[in-house]
Amino acid sequence: MGYVVSIVNMKGGVGKTTVTVNLGTCLARDRGKRVLIVDLDTQVNATLSMMPPLYFAKLKQERRTLKTLVEQTIRASTQPRLPVQDVVYRDICQVKGLDILAGDVELYDDFLLSALIETKSQQHRQSFEQTWNSVENNLLRVILKPVLNRYDLILLDFPPSDTLVTRSALLASHFYLVPARAEPLSVVGIGLLESRLRQFRESDRAKLEMLGIVFTARGQATSMATKVKHRLAQEFGAEQIFKTEIPTNVEVARAVDDFQPVVLNNPSASGAKAYANLAPEFLQKLGQRLRRRQPPATAH
Ligand SMILES: Nc1ncnc2c1ncn2[C@@H]1O[C@H](COP(=O)(O)OP(=O)(O)OP(=O)(O)O)[C@@H](O)[C@H]1O
Ligand SMILES: [Mg+2]
Repeated sequence: MGYVVSIVNMKGGVGKTTVTVNLGTCLARDRGKRVLIVDLDTQVNATLSMMPPLYFAKLKQERRTLKTLVEQTIRASTQPRLPVQDVVYRDICQVKGLDILAGDVELYDDFLLSALIETKSQQHRQSFEQTWNSVENNLLRVILKPVLNRYDLILLDFPPSDTLVTRSALLASHFYLVPARAEPLSVVGIGLLESRLRQFRESDRAKLEMLGIVFTARGQATSMATKVKHRLAQEFGAEQIFKTEIPTNVEVARAVDDFQPVVLNNPSASGAKAYANLAPEFLQKLGQRLRRRQPPATAH
């Protein structure tokens, strides 16, 4: 059974997408894992980091994006449905075992989703609130369930916002990984995420565990950076901080222009080498968490 891992921080621009695509690529290419990347962001950055806009336009035309799955899951229509296996794009960037579920620039807005939910609540003679909560609890679980056995890891690339889709994605996850910059506002983003998770845990709706915090833009060791790292280590435990840090490296950003993660585009770049080291540390941390779990994690 595959494990679903949210790559999440409620602060924008901290490297969530870059971690998702590079870590996913290394896990598939170097570690032989079957990996699915799911682009939850309407900015579709993960999708466009791995395929040219023309490919994406074609997928959209064929309705092979997450939007289709979101719509048909909420509608639960009896009409022919496109199964998730057919929506996924296989062996992206020609890496065997690396698949992507493309994002979409539309739909995830709560206002638009509420129209679908209103219709559903009338059909089911339920209150709007009941239907909304049920969609929040189940949307991503239902979408991912048919492919849980096909993958070792499903990595979810989050937007920095808090929406029905992102809450549903957290509820469908076994673990979460937090990319961060050693800056105070990154800590604020982690705080917001933790308070959302606390609410879930208090109502016994989510059991996802932190896999750790990865620093994604190591630059000069300023006193501010040291202070932020120290604070996070104190708050979450030193073992929660990944030893691998990703250096600031222009090649990481430049790779996006070639629609490939830097680990494929320029493997000798310092950023690429750091990502290659992140993958084994990620698997080691995952292994530790799984051994600690009694009994082993069960499917949703
Ligand atoms: N190690 C790095 N060195 C240099 N640039 C980087 C590095 N990591 C990420 N970047 C660049 O920083 C920007 C933000 O990174 P990224 O898009 O991964 O953040 P994000 O958290 O996904 O942002 P958002 O919240 O908008 O989804 C991008 O332009 C990316 O190419
Ligand atoms: Mg992003």
